[in-house]
Amino acid sequence: RLLIVDFGSQVTQLIARRLREARIYCEIHPFQKVTDTFLADFAPKAVILSGGPASVTEAGSPRAAEGVFGAGVPVLGICYGQQVMMEQLGGRVEAGHEREFGRAYVEPTGGHGDDAMFTGLFSTGREEVWMSHGDRVTALAPGFEVIGASPNAPYAITADPARKFYAVQFHPEVHHTVNGARLLKNFTDLAGFSGDWTMGAYREEAIRQIREQVGSEKVICGLSGGVDSSVAAVLIHEAIGDQLTCVFVDTGMMRQGEAEEVVTLFRDHYNIPLIHADEADLFLDALDGVTDPEQKRKTIGKLFIDVFEKHAKSVGGAKFLAQGTLYPDVIESVSFTGGPSVTIKSHHNVGGLPERMDLALVEPLRELFKDEVRALGRELGLPEQFVGRHPFPGPGLAIRCPGEITRDKLAILRKADAVYLDQIRKHGLYDEIWQAFAVLLPVRTVGVMGDGRTYDYVCALRAVTSVDGMTADYYPFSHEFLGETATRIINEVDGINRVTYDITSKPPGTIEWE
Ligand code: XMP
Repeated sequence: RLLIVDFGSQVTQLIARRLREARIYCEIHPFQKVTDTFLADFAPKAVILSGGPASVTEAGSPRAAEGVFGAGVPVLGICYGQQVMMEQLGGRVEAGHEREFGRAYVEPTGGHGDDAMFTGLFSTGREEVWMSHGDRVTALAPGFEVIGASPNAPYAITADPARKFYAVQFHPEVHHTVNGARLLKNFTDLAGFSGDWTMGAYREEAIRQIREQVGSEKVICGLSGGVDSSVAAVLIHEAIGDQLTCVFVDTGMMRQGEAEEVVTLFRDHYNIPLIHADEADLFLDALDGVTDPEQKRKTIGKLFIDVFEKHAKSVGGAKFLAQGTLYPDVIESVSFTGGPSVTIKSHHNVGGLPERMDLALVEPLRELFKDEVRALGRELGLPEQFVGRHPFPGPGLAIRCPGEITRDKLAILRKADAVYLDQIRKHGLYDEIWQAFAVLLPVRTVGVMGDGRTYDYVCALRAVTSVDGMTADYYPFSHEFLGETATRIINEVDGINRVTYDITSKPPGTIEWE
């Protein structure tokens, strides 16, 4: 087994995910739990120290148990994990003056590049990596040498090949580090791993666990029409058949045509009992005057539960609520159990849940990432056009309408979004993009149309590429596409007279605006 010691990075789960892709079994445990006794018991074949939000230069900041370095097994430190290694093994770390976020390039420095850890790296001269750090290493621990450097991280890649200790400043686990998976694979190879984890095995195991958890009770499943809840519903249906009823809650904040599409598709294709709950008034009245993003998410999360509880009764006493909660939802909304991770957003299907709820949760996808859910969907035989749909957030258009939400604004946003997606489909770009949507800004600007003055809203367009939603880059549309789309939106949508394109990556941005 491989042990991942978690220092609370937002992307620790991705390390596990990359290893899973290489079919390697691993477990993540928070640093406080990983004591010398724990290590002796766990007997890892290799250890990875994750990144984290703390600074090793601060008193009381997290450290690794000494046993990590005394077990004679390969150790890889990532970001904060690198700094912990250097600090504990006799090097030095300083608070950086130049913070470095996003893309960076690491050049080879002539060190032990021939070590098995670096096979296949630097083949094009330099490595494109994803950085997210403030502090940096300023003196190496004895035994280490530098293998690669970036402009703001002179010790971007360091190694002590004799002890098989490796430490990097960037995040090899994120997709945007081009050869990150390769680096992790090299590490597990040299630690002697080979694996047999598969999606088919996951399906079997998930079905077994659902049956065990649910017994003969009834389950309702919140269906949003997105990939996650659909895959969850089909998986659960496979496990417990007609003990399952799906509930589609129309919040009044769905995209154009979505409600009809989802209901038809689901009833016709899957033949699973479905309740279509039209609750637009309930949601929009509760959101009246609410402008704070977290307040919006919490309000919506609570109402969802009220609606689910109502329908749990109406189907004859369901005891369970099933949701398509994914790993990123869990990690980005709840502070890690015992760990120092920071809450970025309360995702409606996790952080927005009230503390006391009559329904117990069934979340069979809780350990998966989006693309793994898609793979599971294919494994379950879902149609490709459904499996390939862009994600849509539970809180819907509410979080794409910064500031106050009104019916008028939602109607404008819905139209702009439909034109934008139509453009993307027409240009054959839908499948190249992870997610694309329009945002209606709470700002009005002056324009001129015909001979008249206009004073209308600004629409921002967002389109990103991503593999798992944890990191993302903006999609490089051509200027022609952007120009044509802006013209169409302004011509076809009353209430918008200016269009902008969002070119922020994640991090430092997030995909949604709220
Ligand atoms: P962010 O904005 O955090 O989004 O970069 C990452 C991915 O998650 C989706 N998202 C949500 N999905 N409930 C969901 O089911 C939510 O509350 C929620 N908030 C964001 C977002 O659309 C993107 O795909």
